[in-house]
Amino acid sequence: MQDSSPYDLRSFLSALDANGELVRIHRKVDARFELPALLEQLERAGKAYIVENIKGRDFPLVGGLLSSARRMGLSVGQSAGPDYDHRAHARVYGEALQHPRTPVEVSSAPVKDVILTGDDIDLGKLPVPTFFELDSGPFITGAVGLSRDPEDGHLNMGFYRGLITGKDTVVVNASSLSDLRRIYAAAEASGEPMPIALAIGAPPAVLMCASGKTPPGVSELDIAGGLQGGPVRLIKCETSDLRVPADAEIIIEGVVEPNNKIENTLGEFAGQYGPETAPVTRVTAITHRKNAMYYSIMAGRNPEHNTIGAVSTYGMQRIIADNLRQQFPNIHDINVACEPRLGAMLHIFISIAKTSDAEPRKLLDAAFGATAGIFPVSMITKRIVVVDSDVDVFNLEEVEWATWTRLSGAEKILIKPNVKSWELERCVNDDMESVRVGIDATMDMDAVDKLLKPVIPGSETVKLEDYLD
Ligand SMILES: Cc1cc2nc3c(=O)[nH]c(=O)nc-3n(C[C@H](O)[C@H](O)[C@H](O)COP(=O)(O)O)c2cc1C
Repeated sequence: MQDSSPYDLRSFLSALDANGELVRIHRKVDARFELPALLEQLERAGKAYIVENIKGRDFPLVGGLLSSARRMGLSVGQSAGPDYDHRAHARVYGEALQHPRTPVEVSSAPVKDVILTGDDIDLGKLPVPTFFELDSGPFITGAVGLSRDPEDGHLNMGFYRGLITGKDTVVVNASSLSDLRRIYAAAEASGEPMPIALAIGAPPAVLMCASGKTPPGVSELDIAGGLQGGPVRLIKCETSDLRVPADAEIIIEGVVEPNNKIENTLGEFAGQYGPETAPVTRVTAITHRKNAMYYSIMAGRNPEHNTIGAVSTYGMQRIIADNLRQQFPNIHDINVACEPRLGAMLHIFISIAKTSDAEPRKLLDAAFGATAGIFPVSMITKRIVVVDSDVDVFNLEEVEWATWTRLSGAEKILIKPNVKSWELERCVNDDMESVRVGIDATMDMDAVDKLLKPVIPGSETVKLEDYLD
């Protein structure tokens, strides 16, 4: 049996450890509130972590792994330096889309070291944190869910948060835009048993691809293979026909009870409580590696959710950019930002070498009217800002600076009321509508002399380290 894969979570943890980016906490902590309070501070420190000793639990918890574009790059073998950003990672992901690798099936893997069924199943042994005061209970946040799409039989994959409601029950939540929601509905309509599996501690490339939407007929697992430079290894479940990542740490297998739905609440990544309703899954087996580690993504307003989630915007970024550049060839750059500092909705920043003062407004209208793959841009985007081409749209601070220093006319602010939104924007009205804001933060053409950004010619070639002994 192959003991470890060069693409698995452990290999990445070793790399982080070797770089001094991994912290180990040995002191015993309580999973309810003490653990998340500690995790929040580790997140702020920007460290990856292993919390080794959690009261009454059998496994250590790992997290803070893919909390920046640079870390995502490192996890798939890129020599990602401090400048490696979402632009760079989008290029690497784009390459993977061009060179997918079909998964291979294996018959044995470490994730089958321990196989628990029947009375031996106990989700309470996992160190699953209860994150916030009003959460419904402990939430699995770092699991990749796998299910079979009844329409074409392909293996569907996504990140879904799971509330543990008992020793062998978990509620796996699926948003209204997810394929899983559609698969649940099909199972409810057919009355057929629906198997599902949760892979915890899957290889980083699988984690990144799980949140992304792929073009029809393209599997997220094939892209993950392309991204990590070798096929994803899959293995059959013990109690169903589903295939799961063989190099995961822990697999939870179960059967969905489509009619048995439960409402549940978690303090989400936008910094608000998010109620969801989803069916109960009855767990039929847990399999795991010897000395398995439980991977968790810190809930609430912390970077890792958005960093991984940003991968799903790379495709939108391309579609929106191609679409808008056809109409506005003088667009300089576009950033579709999935930014924890700005909540759950997307913000789009566009720089342009404008040829008239009327042009940015036309661009705002066109951008809100565009589509982002399967979604209208206006549905998932809270704000669009148009800036001049001297502003780096990948630098939030620069966009904010331009907005508040180059804007004086009220007509440069576009307010779009009652726009169709979706449930992840928790402030929507009863008709699922909300406001959208467009800002023309470009310099008025007759005011350029006063508003120009002071620049030092050639400053990018001067490096401090070259001047220090
Ligand atoms: C950390 C994280 C947690 C997520 N949690 C959920 C969730 O609870 N429910 C959901 O539907 N989507 C969630 N998403 C987004 C989905 O993973 C994403 O939309 C995915 O494409 C859904 O897959 P599907 O459409 O194939 O079902 C999450 C994404 C990330 C990065």
